[in-house]
Amino acid sequence: MKNIGVPYFREATISGLAGREQEFKDLLGDDFKDAQFIKYLDHCLTPKTTAAAYKAPRDKTHRESYQRGEKFYIANCMACHAADGNGLEHLGPPLVKSEWVMDSPEKLSAILLQGLMGAVTVNGKKYTPVAAMPGLKHAPEITDAHLADVATFVRHAWNNRKSAVDPATISKARKRFKERNSAFTPEELGKIYP
Ligand code: HEC
Repeated sequence: MKNIGVPYFREATISGLAGREQEFKDLLGDDFKDAQFIKYLDHCLTPKTTAAAYKAPRDKTHRESYQRGEKFYIANCMACHAADGNGLEHLGPPLVKSEWVMDSPEKLSAILLQGLMGAVTVNGKKYTPVAAMPGLKHAPEITDAHLADVATFVRHAWNNRKSAVDPATISKARKRFKERNSAFTPEELGKIYP
């Protein structure tokens, strides 16, 4: 507390805590006096992606959708595709520089709605995940706008820098595959969206 006002003292302390922020916060207890320090600790404890290290979209509407999409990504995708979009072994392949993300908004919409199963090649590398990618079309709380936002996010994030996806594109795919329940295989998608 004697040194807490020294420039960068809080930052240095917290960076030295890496991985033990919660433990330290518990140790400080509820009556710790420096609100700024607690604010920094809370910031570390909030799950986030690494997308902030790259440029956000310049256009306002695009950027707002991207920002909503990041929140959705943290809650619904990050556990398998990682905070940096590079995927996690056995859980999910990378989204960074993935042709499935960057090529066509329609193909990406189909993956999000229906899911994907079977060996898949992403950016020249073959992945054989143990489980399939779950489709989201049957989740009642997930709207076309949500899926458009998250598609917009992954298409721009981490220097992917591709165009936004609008909810109408998701709605169209939802109608098109209305009767279908199973996940797509990469081969099938390759035929539908050559
Ligand atoms: C339970 C884990 C899991 C979750 C959650 C998940 N995915 Fe996936 N995802 C996978 C797996 C596994 C594959 C590969 C499936 C296959 O081909 O067998 C995949 C494939 C993909 C692909 C195509 C391949 C690639 O790497 O580009 C995209 C795009 C994708 N996921 C996006 C998303 C998005 C966006 C979300 C959140 C809305 C999400 N996924 C949530 C596991 C997951």
